[in-house]
Amino acid sequence: MKIRAADLLISCAREGQFPADGLPEVAFLGRSNVGKSSLLNALVNRKQLARTSSTPGKTRLIHFFRIVAGETELALVDLPGYGWAKVSRKERKSWGSLIESYLERRAPLRLAVLLQDIRRDFSEDETLLLEWLAERGIPWQVVVTKSDKLKPMRRGKRLRELKDQLGATPFPLIATSSQSRQGLDDVWRRIASSLEESR
Ligand code: GTP
Ligand code: MG
Repeated sequence: MKIRAADLLISCAREGQFPADGLPEVAFLGRSNVGKSSLLNALVNRKQLARTSSTPGKTRLIHFFRIVAGETELALVDLPGYGWAKVSRKERKSWGSLIESYLERRAPLRLAVLLQDIRRDFSEDETLLLEWLAERGIPWQVVVTKSDKLKPMRRGKRLRELKDQLGATPFPLIATSSQSRQGLDDVWRRIASSLEESR
C-alpha cells in the first residue's frame, strides 16, 4: 500500500475531544502489549508514529491518526490496551469507559480490528468483546500478531487452534508480524473492503 501521509490528528482522554472531521475510522483494540501500536506503525511504514513499548499499558489515550493510503483518506485509531493488572482499579475503570464510549457511539467507525497474540489463547475478554461488537452491528476482524515469535512449523498449528477456539467468524483470522511484515497486505485489503461496504 502506498502511504502518502500519516500524521497524528489528536490524542484524547475524553469523548468530547474526539475529532469531528468525519473521516472513516478503523480502530485497533486488544490486550495490552499485544502489538496494536506496532501494527499501526507497520501498516503505514512509520517506526514510531504510534508510541510502542515493551512495558504494557503504554497507550493510555485514544490516538487518532490521519492516513492517506493510495486514493483513500481514513483515520486509524489506536485504543488503550485492556487487561493490564498493574494499574489501579480506578484507572482501569476510566480506560474501560473511554474505550466503551468510543466503540458505543462513534459514528465514523467502520471496522474494529481485535488483535490477539499468536502465543496466547483467547479469553473471555476477547470472546465477550466480539459478541458485544456483533450485537451493536460493528464490523470486526481478528488479527493474530507476533507470528514471527513461533517457528513456521508451530505457526500453522497455533492458527488452527485459535480458529477452533473462536468457532465460525465472518472473515478468516489474519496472521501478521509487524517485524517480518507478514500479513500486512491482507490487513489493508480487509480495511479497504470494510470502507467500500459502508459507502
Ligand atoms: P499497549 O499500548 O500497552 O496497549 O500495547 P500495544 O498493544 O500497543 O503493544 P506495542 O505495539 O507497544 O508492542 C508491545 C511489545 O511487543 C513491544 O516490545 C513491541 O516491539 C513488541 N511487538 C509488537 N509487535 C510485534 C511483532 O510482530 N513481533 C515481535 N517479535 N514483537 C512485536
Ligand atoms: Mg499501544
